[in-house]
Amino acid sequence: MIMGVKDMGNNPVKIINQAKLSILQGDITRQTTDTIVNAANSSLMGGGGVDGAIHRAGGPAILEECIQIVSLQGRLPSGQAVITNAGNMKSKHVIHTVGPIWHGGKQGEADLLASAYRESLQLAAENNLSSISFPSISTGAYSYPLDEASRIALKTVASFLSATTSIKEVVFVLFDSRTFDAYTTALREITGDK
Ligand code: APR
Repeated sequence: MIMGVKDMGNNPVKIINQAKLSILQGDITRQTTDTIVNAANSSLMGGGGVDGAIHRAGGPAILEECIQIVSLQGRLPSGQAVITNAGNMKSKHVIHTVGPIWHGGKQGEADLLASAYRESLQLAAENNLSSISFPSISTGAYSYPLDEASRIALKTVASFLSATTSIKEVVFVLFDSRTFDAYTTALREITGDK
């Protein structure tokens, strides 16, 4: 059951099965949710975009743990997720996931993008976390079309929250107004809100 509400800051909020799904424009490195999600690459060695921002804000402790993970299990395949500490940031953890690079939509990109969100949520639930912040995975350097990516992201999260889970709050933290508007439109569409 999805109900549409608005928070005081006029950011869209949906209640799904007692969990809160909200969208805001901001910097994910400043969020206070139990974990934030990084749109990483398979090397886990950092990069630009939100990956660079998270490593800069969190400091070297995050990269040190990423290096250990890669030395144990190798590169992180697209659509999968791992969890580390969050270093100097307010959140307790960073879940690193690798979204698909857009190659035109016929190489399984949609399934891989949904998997990146689902695996991140499952990993947060396995660690008994109750709140998680997502960036807009794959819509930057990986060129995934924003309209389609935002629908996949919100549908995947809404479907995950419809089942029983420890996750009680999911926040989409979008860096620019174009991305914020796309997610706001997509949320209205999937919840039938006018
Ligand atoms: N907070 C929230 N969102 C952010 C932030 C931030 N501080 N900085 C950037 N973003 C947004 C971008 O504006 C974009 O909307 O994150 C979204 C994802 O863009 P990218 O970071 O480019 O991620 P992606 O498209 O998944 O490409 C991943 O880029 O940075 C490299 O190492 C990364 O190789 C990987 C690739």
